[in-house]
This record gives sequence, structure tokens and C-alpha cells, in this order.
Amino acid sequence: MGVATDKIWFDGKFVNWDDCKIHAMSHVVHYGTGVFEGIRCYKNKKGSALLRLKEHIRRLFESAKIYHMTPSYTQDEFCQFCIDTVRENKLEECYLRPLIFRGYGELGVNPTKCPVQCLIALLRWGKYLGVEALENGVSVCVSSWRRPLPDTFPTLAKACANYMNSQLIKMEALMNGFDEGIALDAAGYVAEGSGENIFMVRNGVIYTPPSNCSILPGITRHAVFQITRDLGLRVEKHIIQREALYIADELFFTGTAAEITPITQVDKIVIGDGKRGPITKAIQDYFFRVIYAEAADKFGWLTYI
Ligand SMILES: Cc1ncc(COP(=O)(O)O)c(C=O)c1O
Repeated sequence: MGVATDKIWFDGKFVNWDDCKIHAMSHVVHYGTGVFEGIRCYKNKKGSALLRLKEHIRRLFESAKIYHMTPSYTQDEFCQFCIDTVRENKLEECYLRPLIFRGYGELGVNPTKCPVQCLIALLRWGKYLGVEALENGVSVCVSSWRRPLPDTFPTLAKACANYMNSQLIKMEALMNGFDEGIALDAAGYVAEGSGENIFMVRNGVIYTPPSNCSILPGITRHAVFQITRDLGLRVEKHIIQREALYIADELFFTGTAAEITPITQVDKIVIGDGKRGPITKAIQDYFFRVIYAEAADKFGWLTYI
């Protein structure tokens, strides 16, 4: 998934993809000591634009702060490095992976003696859950793996180690023939997909789990709040029981990678009429019209490079 590009921005310099190396004894290798982002750069008729760059870099720095990592750059500088990296690679469309991590210092669990390092790598990348998924939807299962209790791994941080949990959810789903898995929180309520937030539509009202259900509060999730407000649709942040998924009228995932993807089956139970629902389509259409510059960018989502 994703094709390599030419140059990686690594601690202030561009290095060739094949030469971007870290020491095997780096703290991140042993303990997952890193935080990251995923950002998309879309080509539209006005040029190439990074989607919600500032929000992603803000979350990156907040994730770092939670883990006592202080990069030697400001958020504004980091935004500029993202733009520079796309320009340096001469790409019109790509996926950006900024990472702040602890490098080589001491092996003990205390990370504070290990340097904070940063990189921005790009991938040529298509649709995460498949091109047809945006229209035909995906089939998912409820995972036997849960999201962590809030006083274990903080889910407001997009931390590398959290994705060991996501990997278990994803692998279990794929091994059982599903496209994706949905994790419940420690109390047994719906949290999110392995790399997506989830929304449910019932009787014309849209529901999504609140941030205290062990979710990463997604930037695409926030975009959906803006879209629905503009469309005059009602959204409630509300706990969702597993069985409420089965009797929903519509379900969809949101995420930088998944964009807005309908869910048409959960645990082999068909959702609604098994097709992308009208509210999902209206939100999707709005989202892509802004991204492809077919509608005004009234929320300032796009940063042109
Ligand atoms: C666990 C998890 N939840 C939700 C999301 C969606 O977040 P965003 O819309 O900011 O990409 C992601 C993807 O980054 C994720 O990994």
C-alpha cells in the first residue's frame, strides 16, 4: 500500500528515500516512542492542496506534548516543511506521513535521554479501502479487541504504540474476510475503526461516539460536523451500543485515509438496504466538491502548495 517517493525531510534536510536511516537502538524501535500524522495532498483544478494541514500539525504537536516530546520547530515551521517536502518531490497528489519520535540515546524505559527527531515522508497512495468502497461500501466486523481504558493509553494522542492495538483489530478483520474492524471501548460501547471514526444515521439524525469513548477525535470527523451544520443536519455525540449498528439506517467511516466510506454490513448483517445511504452520499459529495475545488472552501480546509 503506497509507493515510495524520492526525498524524505529528515531533521531539517532532504535525504534520499533509500538513505533515510535511524539507529536500530532508537527508543522508537523498542518502545514505539513516536507520534505521527497522516495528511492528504489532493490535485484539483486550482492546483495541489494539503487538506487541513494546520489541524493535523496542531494534533501532531499536541500528541508530542502528551508524551513530553518537544520538537525544535514551531507548528508554522512544520507546516512549511510539509509544503516544501511535496514541492521537493514534485508531486501533485500524495499522502504525507509526518513523524516525531525518540531516537538513539539510552535503552531504559525513561525516554528523556533520547533525542526528539522528526521526519516527513510522502507516499503515492490511492484509496485506502479500495476505489469501489466509496460507492459500494465496506463489510466490517465488531472486533474482539477493545480500545484501551482512558488511563492506560491516551487516545487523544496519535501515538505509534496505539497502532499495535489497531493492527490486532485490522488483522483479525482481514483474516475473517472483512474489510475492517470496529473496536468497542472498555465499557463495551462503539469506539471506532482501526484507523477511522464511525458515524451512524437513524431516523434522520446522525450519531457519533464522543471523545470519551476512547477514540482519536478525527479531523475528517470534525469536517463532517462542519458539513452537516451547513447542510442543516443534526449530529449528536452520543454513546452507541453494538446492536444499534445493526439496526442503523446508514453507517459510514471517516478518516484521512478512508475519506468518507459507507459501511454496508456489520457482522454480516446488512445495514439499511445494503447500499450507500442518501445522507452518507450528501456528506461525501460535499466533502469531495470542496476538495476538488468544485465548491467554495468556506471552512479554509485547503492549503495550496
Ligand atoms: C484510530 C483512528 N481513528 C480515527 C482516525 C481518523 O482521523 P483523521 O480524520 O484525523 O484522519 C484515524 C486516522 O488518522 C485513526 O487512526
